[in-house]
Amino acid sequence: MSTVSREKIDEFEYTLYESWVNWFQRDPGLYGYRRYVQQRLVEEMAVVQLVRAAIGRPELMGEPDIYHKMGWIVDWHESSVYRRFFVMSRALGLNGYKVNRQIAELMDAVINAAKGDIRQGLLLLRAALKYCHTGYRAAAYWANNRHVAQLAYLAYQREEDEVKVVDDALEYVGIARPDRAGMDLVLFNALTPIFFDFFQPPEVVDDGGPPLPVAEWERAGTLDEIRRVGKKMVIVGLWREVLVVGVDGDVVAFENWCTHERDPLHYGYLQGRQLVCLGHHATFDAKTGRVVLHPNHGEARTQPRYPVKVENGVVYVKVPW
Ligand code: FES
Repeated sequence: MSTVSREKIDEFEYTLYESWVNWFQRDPGLYGYRRYVQQRLVEEMAVVQLVRAAIGRPELMGEPDIYHKMGWIVDWHESSVYRRFFVMSRALGLNGYKVNRQIAELMDAVINAAKGDIRQGLLLLRAALKYCHTGYRAAAYWANNRHVAQLAYLAYQREEDEVKVVDDALEYVGIARPDRAGMDLVLFNALTPIFFDFFQPPEVVDDGGPPLPVAEWERAGTLDEIRRVGKKMVIVGLWREVLVVGVDGDVVAFENWCTHERDPLHYGYLQGRQLVCLGHHATFDAKTGRVVLHPNHGEARTQPRYPVKVENGVVYVKVPW
C-alpha cells in the first residue's frame, strides 16, 4: 500500500486553511456569514453521521471505553455545537440548513463507505474532523463577527480530544496511530474532492449585506523594540494573547497558544526564521505559521496569525472582534 506523504497532507491542509482565511479577509458581510453558518451545520451533520456509522460497528461496540468516548463526540456535537449554530442561523435570518442533491449524494456515499468498512470509516471520520476544524480555526481567528468567532473557538478547542479518540479507535481495530501519513493514496485521492466540496469556503461572491463592525488596531510596541527582543507577548482585546515576532525585517502576529496542545508560544524561542514551542518542540515557520517540524508526539497545525501593521515605527495588531 503506498501511503500519502505527510508533506502532501500538510500542504493540502495549509491550502484549505489559507483559502478560509482569504475568504474571511474579504469581509463576507452578513450574507456571507449566513452561508458560513449553513455550511457548518451541514458539516456538523456529516461528522455526527460518520461517528454514528463507526459506533454501529461490532468491533467498537466491544470496547466500552472507546464506544463511550465516541458517543461523547456525538453528544457534544449535537447538543452543543450543532444547537448553537442552529440558534445562530435563526439570528441571522435563516432557518437551519438546506442540503442540496449533490451534497446529499456525496454524504450518502461517505456514510455508506463508513458503514461498510470500519477502517475506512474511522479514517474518513478523522479526516472530516480535521478539515471541519480547519474551518473553525480560520473563523476563530479571522471572523469579524464576534458571535461566529466565539462559537468557532469553542468548537475548535475540542479538536485535540476528538482526534485522539479516533486515533485510539483506529489502534483498537489494528491500525497503528496514523500520524497523518497513515492514509493510503487511493483513499486520499478519493477524499480530496469530497473535502474540497464539503469543507471549502463557499464561492467568493461579494453579495453585499451590511458590513460588520471591526475591531480597533491596538498598539503592541515599537518596531525597534520588537526587532531587539525578537518576540513579545501582548494581550489584545480583553484576553486574547498575541505573540508579535520580528523576522526578516517584517513583523508577524501569531496566536500565542500553540496549535498542538495550547502551550504558550512565548515560552518558546526563535531560531532564525523558525519559531519553536517549548512544550513539545513543534517548529513553525515564523512568517507563515506553517508547521516545519511536528512535535514529539501528535501533530501541530498551521499557527494562526492576526492582522498586523506598522505605522511611524509603532506596531499595531488587531483581533477581528
Ligand atoms: S504545545 Fe506546542 S509543541 Fe506541544
